[in-house]
Amino acid sequence: MPQDPLLLSTAVEAVLHAGAMQIAALGQRIRIDKKGVIDLVTEVDVAVERWFREFIQERFPEHRILAEELQDRSPQGVESSPYRWIFDPIDGTTNYAHGLPIFCASLGLEIAGRLEVAAVYDPTRKELFTAERGGGAFLNGTPIRVSKTDSLIDSLLCTGFHYDVHQSSDDVVGLFARFIGRARAVRRLGSAALDLCYVAAGRLDGFWEERLHPWDVAGGVLLIEEAGGLISGYDGTSFHPGRADLVATNGAIHPLVLDVIQRWQARTV
Ligand code: IPD
Ligand code: CA
Ligand code: CA
Repeated sequence: MPQDPLLLSTAVEAVLHAGAMQIAALGQRIRIDKKGVIDLVTEVDVAVERWFREFIQERFPEHRILAEELQDRSPQGVESSPYRWIFDPIDGTTNYAHGLPIFCASLGLEIAGRLEVAAVYDPTRKELFTAERGGGAFLNGTPIRVSKTDSLIDSLLCTGFHYDVHQSSDDVVGLFARFIGRARAVRRLGSAALDLCYVAAGRLDGFWEERLHPWDVAGGVLLIEEAGGLISGYDGTSFHPGRADLVATNGAIHPLVLDVIQRWQARTV
């Protein structure tokens, strides 16, 4: 069922504004704190999220918000709303903090537990990815589709590493090595939301990562589905934004990617 057009236009407005805030502060002296040994948060992450919360609360006071930095601080009385905006103010914070221009703002709107609207904006390339359930996926207004690649040896794959990677680097690198031995090439770009958009746009053929958070994926998951791709957990069962392990592909290579992961897991269990 098509949604109120105000929902998508709000999503687009939000990520474009977030991107403008990111660009305005990029390369400036900004405050960078550590949430963990290698997990950073900049003052821009927090400023963008604060702006976003005010923006949504003003326009849709009854909607819920889940975002990374200020966690679930929805105003009281909205707990029962079917609308939940899931927002990452900067996806790719490590890149951003180092001035590496691979980051974005990512937003997905869930209605009654189902992702219905998505917008992801990369302000350095001026690339806006959008999707509505049943309405297709777009890059700057042009429809996008996943690739048709049907073998791993012809695939460009991508993954990401969670912030506990120091504690499980053998495991993470072991699986990475398995894919290196099977694919054309494997990338690690540092923004899960853009990784997913690139699968949707056919630039990448597949992506896997574990220990993801809802705000990393809420935008990209709907883009993949609307671009004709496939999303699942590592075990092949269905994915939802509360789930931490994710495989996203063009569909054709999905069983091949799952097979590599499952063989690796069986070996290490
Ligand atoms: C991270 C990025 C990264 C992924 C991490 C995420 P953040 O998000 O998406 O690519 O590997 O798992 O946490 O911290 O930059 O918002
Ligand atoms: Ca993120
Ligand atoms: Ca983030």
